[in-house]
Amino acid sequence: MDDLLLLGIETTCDETAAAVVLRRADGSGEIRSNVVLSQVDEHAIYGGVVPEIAARAHVEVTDHVVAQALKEAGIGLRHLSGIAAASGPGLIGGVIVGLTTAKAMALASGKPLIAVNHLEAHALTARLTDGVTFPYLLLLVSGGHTQLVCVSGVGRYTKLGGTIDDAIGEAFDKTAKMLGLPYPGGPAVERAAERGDPARFALPRPLSGRAEPDFSLSGLKTAVRIEATRIAPLSEQDVCDLCASFQAAIVDVIADRVRAAQRVMRERGEKPSALVLAGGVGANQAVRKMLHKVAAEGGTRLAVPPPALCTDNGAMIAWAGAERLALGSRDTLEVPPRARWPLDEATLEVPAAVAKVATAPAPLGQPPLGQPPLGHAGG
Ligand code: KG4
Ligand code: ZN
Repeated sequence: MDDLLLLGIETTCDETAAAVVLRRADGSGEIRSNVVLSQVDEHAIYGGVVPEIAARAHVEVTDHVVAQALKEAGIGLRHLSGIAAASGPGLIGGVIVGLTTAKAMALASGKPLIAVNHLEAHALTARLTDGVTFPYLLLLVSGGHTQLVCVSGVGRYTKLGGTIDDAIGEAFDKTAKMLGLPYPGGPAVERAAERGDPARFALPRPLSGRAEPDFSLSGLKTAVRIEATRIAPLSEQDVCDLCASFQAAIVDVIADRVRAAQRVMRERGEKPSALVLAGGVGANQAVRKMLHKVAAEGGTRLAVPPPALCTDNGAMIAWAGAERLALGSRDTLEVPPRARWPLDEATLEVPAAVAKVATAPAPLGQPPLGQPPLGHAGG
């Protein structure tokens, strides 16, 4: 297996992102460029992502962002081993823009196309940044998704639990909106919580103690609304105290639900090499701090990508594309964009000729951390 140099394109939500990532033959990786253009300002006045605005913005800037990623990596199209794009799940207008761009580039260059599941890209990022080996327990927490997953290999995902109502990022966003904080809500709530009293409001910890590692967040959100209404009008300190109490409840819930998933992993006879935190909420420092503790209790370590690689970016798409291409997987130009695409349906179809390679033991040792992302990483 040779070194692989992948371009990755991400347009499933409100970031237009492209990156070039190297996957070495030994399974280690390195980010060569990582350009993220956030549309946050365009959506902020609406308090959330407006799909039509997002799709139009992606159309306007995707070509430019891709060109910038290649330029910062100091390469041309001819140097690439493959072109990867997030082909779902996400807002369909944006997904179409990124996937069509990748298809056009693949057609023009004759390079392999890899259609990447956005959730799989979040799931595999810790292998790029921390060289995590299979199997591992994944907590995927983003604006649209909250899942605990046993990751046994590339394309081998077993969902252990999920949310029965809101995603955790969504709960942060809705709570922020309710309290008059700016969009996106997660970072705003975290900042306000730093100046607040986490013990002032007794908020519920939904589903705590249940054996199944599922989540429910809507009751917590409602409890915040009831407290806010009760003490209205809110002072700045009230808002900080509500944010601190809300974040403390979320952190407790996450810890309890992850412990439940660790028990399920043990019952399944799986010994995870790490607890991996992925998705935008992984940027939250209080969540990270608690999960370090929970991982250690479970006899393992917490692996979490740097914040800029937790939120949506092109490097994670390029890396997931490289992991798939390394196992001989590639897609045709007919591959469809998907609004819905559950992670446990992102299985790997490997051509018979390379099936032997694909079933070989996990190739990664503990490679060094890839170079820090260049340029405009963020979001
Ligand atoms: O993974 P991501 O960038 O996009 C999706 O695929 O959804 O996650 C975005 C979500 C948003 O709900 C945002 O509020 C949340 O991640 N988020 C945070 C933080 N940074 C981003 N939530 C809590 N604390 C943060 N620091
Ligand atoms: Zn995401």
